[in-house]
This record gives sequence, C-alpha cells and structure tokens, in this order.
Amino acid sequence: MAQSSKSRAARKTSAWYQRHANDPHVKRAQREGKRSRAAFKLTEILEKNSLNIRKDSIIIDLGCAPGSWSVELGKRIGPDGLVIGIDLLPLNPISGVTLIQGDFDSPEGQHALKEALGGRDVDMVVSDMAPEMSGDKLVDQMRMIRLNEMTLHFARQYLREGGDILMKTFMGEGYDAFRRDLGSSFRKIKNIKPAASRKTSSEFFLLGASFHS
Ligand SMILES: C[S@@+](CC[C@H](N)C(=O)[O-])C[C@H]1O[C@@H](n2cnc3c(N)ncnc32)[C@H](O)[C@@H]1O
Repeated sequence: MAQSSKSRAARKTSAWYQRHANDPHVKRAQREGKRSRAAFKLTEILEKNSLNIRKDSIIIDLGCAPGSWSVELGKRIGPDGLVIGIDLLPLNPISGVTLIQGDFDSPEGQHALKEALGGRDVDMVVSDMAPEMSGDKLVDQMRMIRLNEMTLHFARQYLREGGDILMKTFMGEGYDAFRRDLGSSFRKIKNIKPAASRKTSSEFFLLGASFHS
C-alpha cells in the first residue's frame, strides 16, 4: 500500500519535471537569463494594463524568491525609487533592491518591512506569494486567502492614495468575500490570467487600481 502511494507520488513528480522542462516560458526564461518564468507574468501584466512605474516609485514585492519580479521592477526605477522584496527563502543580491529574508505573515517580517520603508508611502504592492501546498485543496485555498488578506491589510497601512496592488490568488472558498473586501479599497479591480501562467493552474492575479482610504 505504502509502496503504491510512493510510486504514485514519484510518477507525479516526474510528470511535473517533464512538463516544466518542455514549458516554452521556462525555455525562454533560460534563454533570456531570467531567474524564473514568473518574470513574463509580471512584464505582461505591467504592459497590458499600462501600469506606469515611475523612476521614483516605492514598490513592495512579497514572496520575491528567486527574484525575477524584483529584477524587472528594479530595472524600471531610478536612484530615487526603491524596491523592497521579502521571502522566506534566501536570495542572491539584486542591484538596487533591498531584500529581506523573513516571513511576511509574522510580526518580525512586518517590522522589517516597516523599517526598510523608513516612513515612505508605497506606490505599489505586488505579491506572487503562494502557500506551501499540502495537497488538500481546501487547506491550500484557505492558506492562499490568508496571504491575500495579509497583503491587503499591509497595503491599507502603507499604500499612498491612488496606489496599486497586484496579487496572486486561487479561485475557491473565501475568494468572493475577499474580492468584495478588496473592492472597498480600490477604485477598479481586474482579474488577470497572464499567458505565462499554466492553463492547468488555478492561479490568477487580482489587480486593484487606485487605492482610496
Ligand atoms: C512563486 S514564488 C515567487 C516568484 C517570484 N515572484 C519571482 O519572480 O521570482 C512564491 C514565493 O512566495 C514565498 N512565500 C510564501 N509564503 C510566504 C510568506 N509568508 N512570507 C514570505 N514569503 C512567502 C515562497 O517562499 C516563494 O518563494
């Protein structure tokens, strides 16, 4: 019994690696020297939604490892701008980006972000955070919504009037209530499924434009 479930898990892992190796976005990321294929999700969202990143923008990147979003954001700002990324995992340094290793969902992580901001208002909060998958769909969904709620709570404290938020989420339990809550703080909400996001994945992105208190 244990052996058959082990071989099922092994088959699943090998199918994932095969899909990953054949993925055109993974191949493109390797060709173009990106840290991950996630870079293309962000660049497509920024371009198609005319999200204007000014040279002096202050941007928070939640769940930033291995760093492809932070690299893209760092390229768009100038010396007066700031990108602060946080992740549970360690990251190789990124030019112009302040990196924090920590848990966003902890008082220490929240404190480290506050310190790095040094009283400045934020123009944009982006989150590609996803919980560690347990394999239980409902548990994973509730963990995702918890990260979404934390992200919105953080944005309500630090975003400037008119600022934007972009976050990954999953469709399922708790999503509708969360979207309504998001809608009470942003003038426009949009659901986005970028081309580089696997069709088989239930992930998509919520863009909240123009924050109001
Ligand atoms: C899909 S990856 C992000 C990829 C990243 N946007 C990029 O372009 O390289 C999701 C990340 O979220 C991080 N994460 C999940 N929960 C977190 C938490 N509570 N605090 C900080 N990071 C978290 C994971 O460690 C993982 O590295």
